[in-house]
Amino acid sequence: MNARSFVLFARRLVTCDPARATEADPLGVIEDGAIAVESGVIVDVGPREDVLARRNALPVVSGEPAPLVTPGLVDAHTHAPWVGSRDGEYALRLAGAGYEAIAAAGGGIVSSMRAVRAASPDEIDWTLSARLRRMASLGVTTVEAKSGYGLDEAGETKQLEALERAAARQDLPRVVPTFLALHAIPPEARADRGAYIEAVRERTLPAIAARRLAQFVDVYVDRAAFSVDEARPVLSRARALGLGVRVHAGQFADVGGAELAAELGAASADHLEQVSPEGARALAAAGVRAVLLPVASFTLRQDPPPIALLRAAGVRLVVASDANPGTAPTESLPLALALAARLYGLTVPEVILGATREAAASLGLADVVGVVRPDARADLVAWDLPHENALVQPWGVSRALTVLRDGAPIAAQTPFSLG
Ligand code: NIG
Ligand code: FE
Repeated sequence: MNARSFVLFARRLVTCDPARATEADPLGVIEDGAIAVESGVIVDVGPREDVLARRNALPVVSGEPAPLVTPGLVDAHTHAPWVGSRDGEYALRLAGAGYEAIAAAGGGIVSSMRAVRAASPDEIDWTLSARLRRMASLGVTTVEAKSGYGLDEAGETKQLEALERAAARQDLPRVVPTFLALHAIPPEARADRGAYIEAVRERTLPAIAARRLAQFVDVYVDRAAFSVDEARPVLSRARALGLGVRVHAGQFADVGGAELAAELGAASADHLEQVSPEGARALAAAGVRAVLLPVASFTLRQDPPPIALLRAAGVRLVVASDANPGTAPTESLPLALALAARLYGLTVPEVILGATREAAASLGLADVVGVVRPDARADLVAWDLPHENALVQPWGVSRALTVLRDGAPIAAQTPFSLG
């Protein structure tokens, strides 16, 4: 037995376990519940008296039962290893300038590229670990994190190496690294887009795969970014190298990104403000999850994605922060949850499952995190909130009392001790 072995009580225990879900209770809630953890792994879940009777050798977490316990939140779409700030561009946008026009004039993603290329590895490490710590303080225990601001082999590798160092730490959220292979054309490659894309496919991607620096490869498919025909060979190569695929699709225009994601068996199609009924059906048929990014559409003052269409097609929904310096200058998954409920009209269970079980499944971590059930990792959040409905309300503040990863606190507003 060690410090990561205990029984934790919760007045409301939101399991997100499909085996406990019913139509009336999609989140599988246990009132007066308990979770038993041994060496960082959940070994027992159920009503308090039952778990206590079965696990009476384990120490109990001291203090009153937590008001509300959920799985640790899983943020399935972030651009976390960025440095610098684009506040100047945001001021221009507040004054009426367009996001795509700023990018076309040499700002946007390329301005973050300049910051990343100029940064030392130490500076990226420091910025990234501070950011991941703030995410943990909000209840996030798993973070998908994309490169995509290096735009050459050295810069992309520098970002992915920073993610590798962060992923080796136990005191931060889990990190799932994604090589964002095609995000923008860097200035030095403008004269020959085809050569740039070919170099990404033939050199950078295989080098990153050989070093196992990424689990997924992503491409930004849109009218001012990359076409389906440009993206397909890169993503197909990623598949052939054994990597998973994610697609930024339909953020500004529907140029076929959803259909491409379906064709390639992608883990997710992300954004989808613009998607056709055919695209939605293709996603559902291929089991591709939709990652909704309401902070980005809020920042860009866009209409929501066609949620009713996605639901009717049977597409599984994920909600993520999109944390990035351009379209979602936040680190807060709870803010994205609040906006998904109010702006997109998702139900509270859809929002919570979209930031736990569904998000985990989109990252290849189904049954490992995002769910409270035996054999899952003890990634848990105790909230200072009376009910799961309140999770979509506390805008702009953290109500996470204790955030556990593998049964150990990575953030806490109150002491976590065993009595
Ligand atoms: O998800 N759409 C492309 N990528 C990011 C924005 C990147 C940026 O502006 O730096 C997004 O919104
Ligand atoms: Fe993004």
